[in-house]
Amino acid sequence: MKLVICETHNELGTKVAMEVANLIKNKPNCVLGLPTGDTPISVYKELVRMYKNGDIDFSQVTTFNLDEYLGISNSHPCSYNSFMQHNLFRHINIPKTSVHIPDGLAAFPDEECKRYESLIQTYGGIDLLILGIGHNGHIGFNEPGTLFDTPTHDIDLAFSTVQANSRFFDNIEDVPKRAITMGIKTILSARRIILMASGEKKSQIVHDAFTKEMTTNIPASVLQTHNDVLVMLDKEAARLFDK
Ligand code: GLP
Repeated sequence: MKLVICETHNELGTKVAMEVANLIKNKPNCVLGLPTGDTPISVYKELVRMYKNGDIDFSQVTTFNLDEYLGISNSHPCSYNSFMQHNLFRHINIPKTSVHIPDGLAAFPDEECKRYESLIQTYGGIDLLILGIGHNGHIGFNEPGTLFDTPTHDIDLAFSTVQANSRFFDNIEDVPKRAITMGIKTILSARRIILMASGEKKSQIVHDAFTKEMTTNIPASVLQTHNDVLVMLDKEAARLFDK
């Protein structure tokens, strides 16, 4: 694991975006794995800026999002699909057919998970996967307790996740309680991983994930076993690494 500490949240976003841009320059038809959440918004802003500036071309890029809520449509304002359209896809020249996000209204979630997993393999796997981290150590929606050999699957969200994500919905009752997520096995099969975290509130969990013994109670700790992980933090999230 390599650790990069940035002075500010914006610098973190810019540096992660540069990693993505460098990959696209070296491999224009690369496959990206993308997260949602507040943390990557600065990355997407910078990627859009670079695109508008003529610095990146997304025309051959393929993307797979990490996860999606089950039970809401793609066009629901709080779906991860809407989040991605709003923050990235509608602003860049990526073909619609190159964007992949699990279907939150799949009638048979099991089938949708299998389809998604095999589609990732069809594209030759993920070149660069960007991850955030939940307060409970989840990656994607792999909640504590998820087995490390799980492929894309549907999952009950932890109550703390429902609570944390209720900030995007009118009421906590409106937050979906289930989701489809790339599994830990899917995540570990990415050739390169960047985990990003921002703010003091993430400092303890990110420190535990990379300095304590690996455990399914902290899903992100499994990244200790991957041979190409870059942990990129702002100063506040890195607070405990300084000691
Ligand atoms: C959600 C997503 C995760 C994300 C996490 C943290 O639960 N499923 O992929 O990493 O939120 O989000 P934030 O960056 O807003 O703290």
